Amino acid sequence: MPILEVKNIKKNFENTEVLKDISFDLEEGQTLSIIGSSGSGKTTLLRCLNFLETPDEGTITVRGKLLLDGANPITDQRQLRENRKHFGLVFQQFNLFPQYTALENVTLAPLLHSDPSMKDEIVEKGKALLAEMGLADRMGNYPHQLSGGQQQRVAIARALAMEPDILCFDEPTSALDPELTGEVLRVIRELASRHTTMIIVTHEMAFARDVADIAIFMDDGIILEKGSAKELINNPKEERTKQFLSSLSSR
Ligand SMILES: Nc1ncnc2c1ncn2[C@@H]1O[C@H](COP(=O)(O)OP(=O)(O)O)[C@@H](O)[C@H]1O
Ligand SMILES: [Mg+2]
Repeated sequence: MPILEVKNIKKNFENTEVLKDISFDLEEGQTLSIIGSSGSGKTTLLRCLNFLETPDEGTITVRGKLLLDGANPITDQRQLRENRKHFGLVFQQFNLFPQYTALENVTLAPLLHSDPSMKDEIVEKGKALLAEMGLADRMGNYPHQLSGGQQQRVAIARALAMEPDILCFDEPTSALDPELTGEVLRVIRELASRHTTMIIVTHEMAFARDVADIAIFMDDGIILEKGSAKELINNPKEERTKQFLSSLSSR
């Protein structure tokens, strides 16, 4: 059984069809990369998966459990919060809480979602996650005291702290100076080698090709091409995919 089944997702904003009919599966332990031009609907798709937008139609199923049916939305807030926990999202702009330290950013949500007796365990786990991200000496720093690459690594630790089934990234390095992208990509590469199930929207084609198992090319709200990441990026079949990839390499 796939860990994630996305079926016939449609999303309109006013009169614009932003997602037209999106369906795909993901196996546990695999990494999927989503590529495509600006405006093709990549962020909207990730936001739908993370319950930040509600699709108008379609279903999202995790480990065989129907989490969302656009035609029949869940209204129970408790249930919604439970369903959200299956996904973690790392944003382009990090979105850390500026008033909290790195460690507090990582532990805030787990502390809110658990019994007070779990506090020590959660704090220890938060420290371990930050250490894994190479931030052992930065736990007490506030976001403004950290570089973009460090902030993004805190954001990754924060997402992992909730133990999501599927970790999603929306262009995790595109707000970073070029010399800082490597440290963030390295951390994601390491997660992939440990078979963390991930969906990564990225314009870093070499990274997508090397790290992802599967790639999807989105164009104007549809999945135009889907296949093994290596095959799709090295040998695209569709004319639009070829155009998109060559426009990137000629920059
Ligand atoms: N909240 C919104 N309201 C209206 N239009 C939106 C909204 N969010 C996204 N869009 C539109 O949806 C389209 C897809 O956007 P997006 O998902 O951000 O694409 P991508 O991430 O691939 O660049 C764009 O045309 C964008 O203007
Ligand atoms: Mg986007």
